[in-house]
Amino acid sequence: MDVSDQLGRPLHDLRISVTDRCNFRCVYCMPKEVFGPSFAFLPRAELLTFEEITRLARIFAGLGVHKLRITGGEPLVRKNVESLVESLAAIPGIDDLAMTTNGALLTAARAEALKDAGLRRITISLDSLDNQVFQSINDVGFPVEKVLQAVENAAQAGLNPVKINMVVKRGVNDQDILPMAEYFRGTGHILRFIEYMDVGTANGWRLDDVVPAADILARVGAQWPLEPVTPDRPGDVARRFRYRDGEGEIGMISSVSQPFCQYCSRARLSPEGQLYLCLFGQTGYDLRRLLREGATDQKIEDAVRSVWSGRRVRYSEERSQATPRPKVEMFRIGG
Ligand code: GTP
Ligand code: 5AD
Ligand code: SF4
Ligand code: SF4
Repeated sequence: MDVSDQLGRPLHDLRISVTDRCNFRCVYCMPKEVFGPSFAFLPRAELLTFEEITRLARIFAGLGVHKLRITGGEPLVRKNVESLVESLAAIPGIDDLAMTTNGALLTAARAEALKDAGLRRITISLDSLDNQVFQSINDVGFPVEKVLQAVENAAQAGLNPVKINMVVKRGVNDQDILPMAEYFRGTGHILRFIEYMDVGTANGWRLDDVVPAADILARVGAQWPLEPVTPDRPGDVARRFRYRDGEGEIGMISSVSQPFCQYCSRARLSPEGQLYLCLFGQTGYDLRRLLREGATDQKIEDAVRSVWSGRRVRYSEERSQATPRPKVEMFRIGG
């Protein structure tokens, strides 16, 4: 039976982070100074196995979840993630199965294998078309060219429409807004502009770093007129706009300037099996303990129902009043 929280929000989506590791060191997510060679990532035994993740996802589906998104860290660094995709795709009631990746490991063969395993959609992060800028953001010297190739690999494999995530940070890549829009117009791919958020505590976020979505929209719209598109679902994070000349659509994710907590139906599962009720959560609820203590499906379902029923969190709507406190890091929770 479905479940709603204290603000009447149902549980429809589960974002599953399969690893805390990543092959990039984006300065706004895993700055090298903190996540260097001596940083202790989760040992293998701490990670949920694919069987454990699939079991939990099936239980969540019984509570009303119909959309799953696999994230990380970087999900493609987890060995054989295709087999997880295959198991998740087979769960009754799951009608949308997607992945968010940096694309570095998305070869043509890997994209096809993911599609064959049952992945429906993919979102690839790319913050700039300028190699120097992009490399200074990913901080491992990864070239733009290869991410663009990954986008094409995904499209060729039939994971359409491919979405591109661009996190906009003032003074870092805001000059790339128009070139990115121009590049992806007419390709069938959907570019989404994301306001830089205060996720975690490692990135030293400041409000001044944020370029409000309204500004981005005005800049793009002045060049190529836009009109709004009705959202697919009320809980979606992106507001959609299409080019009036028919050259496709873009999305705006404005968690800072226009929060969307009111319809937030997303739960998050960390790689070690903690259930988070918000991207900006402080602590999770330990589902791994239940799994490994031998709890029945019913017991786990009851626990999730009880945790979700008590949910009140709406961090982005309360951000301005929030007292600074520790928050889960992006690379653990996958956005
Ligand atoms: P679609 O299913 O295609 O709409 O994907 P999505 O936009 O929900 O997922 P994606 O992983 O591409 O996330 C895009 C951006 O939205 C990232 O910066 C995420 O951190 C952010 N995001 C996703 N869900 C939430 C949320 O519930 N709250 C906030 N504040 N940000 C979110
Ligand atoms: N603010 C907004 N988006 C972020 N992402 C990573 N860190 C941040 C942040 N601080 C994006 C990634 C990826 C998605 C899961 O979240 O670029 O596309
Ligand atoms: Fe960058 Fe994503 Fe890796 Fe974080 S998890 S370092 S945002 S690629
Ligand atoms: Fe949901 Fe938290 Fe994001 Fe608000 S800030 S939309 S409650 S995850």
